[in-house]
Amino acid sequence: MCGIIGVLGNEAAAPRLVEALKRLEYRGYDSAGIAVLINGQIEKRRAEGKIRNLEELLTRNPAQGFEGIGHTRWATHGKPSERNAHPHATDKVAIVHNGIIENFRHLREELTTAGHVFESETDSEVIAHLITHHLDQGLTPHEAVKASLTRLEGAFAIACLFSGQHDMMIGARKGSPLVVGIGDGEMFLGSDAIALAPFTERLIYLEEGDHAVLTRDQVTVYDEQNRLANRPVKIVQGASAAMEKAGYRHFMLKEIAEQPETTSRTIANAIDGLNLVAQLPAIPNFDFKTLDRIVISACGTAYYAGCVAKYWLERYAGVAVEIDVASEFRYREPPMPKNGLALFVSQSGETADTLAALRYCKSQGLATVAVVNVPTSTIAREADVVWPTLAGPEIGVASTKAFTAQLATLAAAAIAIGRARGKISAEEESALCRSLIEVPRLLAEAIKTAEEPVQKLAQELAKARDVLYLGRGQSYPLALEGALKLKEISYIHAEGYAAGELKHGPIALIDEETPVIIIAPKDAVFDKTISNLQEVAARGGKVLLISNKEGIEAAGDVVWASIEVPDCDPIAAPIVYSASIQLLAYYVAVQKGTDVDQPRNLAKSVTVE
Ligand code: G6P
Repeated sequence: MCGIIGVLGNEAAAPRLVEALKRLEYRGYDSAGIAVLINGQIEKRRAEGKIRNLEELLTRNPAQGFEGIGHTRWATHGKPSERNAHPHATDKVAIVHNGIIENFRHLREELTTAGHVFESETDSEVIAHLITHHLDQGLTPHEAVKASLTRLEGAFAIACLFSGQHDMMIGARKGSPLVVGIGDGEMFLGSDAIALAPFTERLIYLEEGDHAVLTRDQVTVYDEQNRLANRPVKIVQGASAAMEKAGYRHFMLKEIAEQPETTSRTIANAIDGLNLVAQLPAIPNFDFKTLDRIVISACGTAYYAGCVAKYWLERYAGVAVEIDVASEFRYREPPMPKNGLALFVSQSGETADTLAALRYCKSQGLATVAVVNVPTSTIAREADVVWPTLAGPEIGVASTKAFTAQLATLAAAAIAIGRARGKISAEEESALCRSLIEVPRLLAEAIKTAEEPVQKLAQELAKARDVLYLGRGQSYPLALEGALKLKEISYIHAEGYAAGELKHGPIALIDEETPVIIIAPKDAVFDKTISNLQEVAARGGKVLLISNKEGIEAAGDVVWASIEVPDCDPIAAPIVYSASIQLLAYYVAVQKGTDVDQPRNLAKSVTVE
């Protein structure tokens, strides 16, 4: 949610800023801009829309200079426009900001009264004026930033560049991620390792409340109390590879295709394939035997992964599970169980609401586990333990391989907890592990089988205005995820429903124009779902059935079309069935010609509430 970058370099800054911004574009793409220092003066270039517009602007109107900051925006306050694009600057300082300054109205009034003139509608611009206000009072840049930080409420990661200061840049974080990159006589700031990968692999992850003063040769980090802080330098390799499409038309398609490999890596890490036991990092001082409830919080696709896990944890581990979208959970102030365990599912590990939910649970004394894809993320660092998903960097805004990796880790967790609680026998554990080990092969088969029929079906589905997705049992959250995926990238209105709820409302929507996609593996609840399928067909509905061979045969010829998925055990089914719903959304979006990897209004990492 907004990407920021800063460079104190020994070569032209603008091309490097643009390169980094392209790598951060997944965080937002409403507008982009840079500011560089030219003979001590701040020069800005900003453009509405995607980064290619900024690039074109820089070709027409280049900006020299070796030092600069850059930003790619996901609008919160103020519409996407050049005027609202970052950097925001006065004659003394330029800033880029990711997050929300909650008390900006108050600060803006105060600074306006003091004579400051605002140019944008953003909350971020107050940061530049606040720092300037302190500089005007004779404070040094570092002192001015420190004084300003005490006034800012909300979430932020910022980078500041000062006029006349060719060897200084200051970064600060509270609630949004910020990384310092150490080069060879050069220094960098960025929202993540991916942005800094072309410049350096030596990174310092700033902690909550930290700020850092950078020169070309030195970085000094201070903690929230302004004490010198010693943060370790980490070597982060391989972040550059993530940005290649490897011949695929879109990152999303590449990431769908990678799933046999990414689930295989994740499962190999969570299952001991030799002894067929689930093995996840232990939670310090925690006894599963006395566990009385699991609370799961997450957002978006990660939330649906959690919803699938609820079925597994209840079935295989015999433990009650409560699940909420994190934005609701954090304000609900729910009473917490005494021997509870809190799970947080997040691809990025930076989602503001999920992080807030984690902090709430910690404050209530719960053991906390992060199921995250980015091991250096804030959620990973703040949780008691990480049960990793090893999907690798996911660039497409619509989550695919992170979802199946989350499912894989959570399935292994259900097995491990089931064993620890004595709810499954050693034989059952072996059988479940064996089923999971088969997932990568089955996923590869599912992708291969679905590709062709899905492309044909997409031509029809692309004409629909509304689509319904139905599923029962553990296929219900998949129906929700299928609908989310479709609306995110094709902009077709789609709703996911529990098949049993059909009669309580959605049945009124059924006509020949509204395709109904039913996810129904031939499992214990198949017959019930097929009754719902019949109800749809009887009302002239156009049913697309996603099932295995036996299921498709059993449904007969009332269906309009079907997608065949290989046979798999119940614990593997949600992972294997994911491929069809992802490919459906993808090919419908391609058919409609939408921007698949960067759908309108969305951002991959949501670091604001
Ligand atoms: C955004 C993304 C989704 C993602 C959700 C949660 O909405 O577009 O793809 O599922 O955030 O993100 P997280 O990083 O916490 O999984």
